[in-house]
Amino acid sequence: MNSNQDAGKKQENKSLWWKNGVIYQIYPRSFQDSNNDGIGDLKGITSRLDYLQWLGIDCIWLSPIFPSPMTDFGYDISDYQGIHPLFGTMEDFDELLLQVHQRNMKLLLDLVPNHTSDQHPWFLESRSSRNNPKRDWYIWHDGKEDGELPSNWLSVFGGHAWEWDELTVQYYYHAFLKSQPDLNWRNPEVQKAMLDVMRFWLDKGIDGFRVDVMWHMIKDAELRDNPVSPDSVFNSEDLIYDYLIPTYTTDQPEVHDIVKMMRKVMDDYNEKVLIGEIYLPVKELVAYYGQKEDEAHLPFNFQLLTLPWDPQQIAAVINEYEGVLPEGGWPNWVLGNHDKTRISSRVGRSQARVAALLLLTLRGTPTVYYGDEIGMRDVPIPIHEVVDPQGLNMPDLNISRDPARTPMQWSDKDFAGFSLYKPWLRLPDDFRRVNVENQKTDPYSMLSFYKKLLQIRRREPALHIGNYIPVYADKQMIAYMRKFENDRFLIVLNLSHRPCYFKSEYKGKIILSTEPERDCNKIESTITLSGDEGILVRMD
Ligand code: NOJ
Repeated sequence: MNSNQDAGKKQENKSLWWKNGVIYQIYPRSFQDSNNDGIGDLKGITSRLDYLQWLGIDCIWLSPIFPSPMTDFGYDISDYQGIHPLFGTMEDFDELLLQVHQRNMKLLLDLVPNHTSDQHPWFLESRSSRNNPKRDWYIWHDGKEDGELPSNWLSVFGGHAWEWDELTVQYYYHAFLKSQPDLNWRNPEVQKAMLDVMRFWLDKGIDGFRVDVMWHMIKDAELRDNPVSPDSVFNSEDLIYDYLIPTYTTDQPEVHDIVKMMRKVMDDYNEKVLIGEIYLPVKELVAYYGQKEDEAHLPFNFQLLTLPWDPQQIAAVINEYEGVLPEGGWPNWVLGNHDKTRISSRVGRSQARVAALLLLTLRGTPTVYYGDEIGMRDVPIPIHEVVDPQGLNMPDLNISRDPARTPMQWSDKDFAGFSLYKPWLRLPDDFRRVNVENQKTDPYSMLSFYKKLLQIRRREPALHIGNYIPVYADKQMIAYMRKFENDRFLIVLNLSHRPCYFKSEYKGKIILSTEPERDCNKIESTITLSGDEGILVRMD
């Protein structure tokens, strides 16, 4: 369904929490430490639920909390049905889930089905001999006759994607670290095992999954070489992922059969949500909704993370996305996550408010990354303190993800109220100024802005289920409307640092501005915006 179809249809969506609500991503290592080991944990998260409720969050997604050797900080899982002792126990998890539900919120877990840890019993068995019954659970191949690797495929984290195994004299494929071997999703036993993992957590009562690298799950059976990217600045010896276009390693046609299997599991339960992590342009992305609404409920839309901060390009992609959404496909938007530079570092703290206004007034489910609501910035991590494998493997590229994963800044106490012990990643120098406690009492703070915005969004059907109507975009600004029945809201955002004018005949009242002094002002003709200003106008 696209935005201009009748609003009555939209009202049907009203009851679905994952359409109306706002998702908040927690990186568990960094949210709240309850046992003072410097690493966040489940009890810590439970102790902060009142904050999230106060803020106006509907749903929490936790990055992985399962047993793991932590070579990729939990995205290398060695037991899909347990809790890593660093994060607590299964009882702690049950208590967290209960407390989330008691507050009328939802809880999503991270499902990492593409690969396991090399310490997972499945891989240990698979690796033990060529005849092991689990051999085919992973992607094992001989080298080419001339002694070359099975294909030219590269790992996202640098280097070849094929790792030689001395014991069984074959290569295995790993899209990420060599300690993260890819499962063979063409094997029915693998499919069953992972769908059982989903049922295990759904039976416990969680509300859905965010599925890690959904578009990676099937690779070309013929192992065809990926083509060289004409845009790459790298050359073949660099062994950097971007050197090739992942034509044969991602987004393969058969992946849709796998996503359908996952969706079927979800559909056996009530109102669960399946979210897919998929970095693809919108045209390819929307295929993951399924032709019959039978794949992901929300294939993550990362356009705001990947596009240049340019109003015309952003406006064009919003229109394109709205235009290609399939019948029944519900949109979504993401502004930050644990893999990307924080929005406040990318566009600046002032502009980050405008970005928040965009995220929370576009049509579709928004995902907020923890700490963005107080304007946390990427923290400079000295080279000898880098722990992220992406940063360590490619030290010259400055692409460590540590800066965006630092502890939540709760207060001006030592270690920002995150822990009493030195945290696993350092805090920024300004945490005594930039923290939740300070911002809670400051009506001009980023946090107060977020809270007001979330309140308005929840209150106004036009903002969570209304139509999206494009109005205008130029080199500096973007303007659009949201409409539901007789309610209309105009959103005008200056994406530049210089003032600009929006010439219009629209009349109304500003109900929220990034500059609180303008709240309640009337709009009658040309609107003048200062640099980094965005306004939300209730129209007469
Ligand atoms: C995507 C996750 O978001 C990222 O953090 C992780 O390193 C890779 N998948 C591998 O699991």
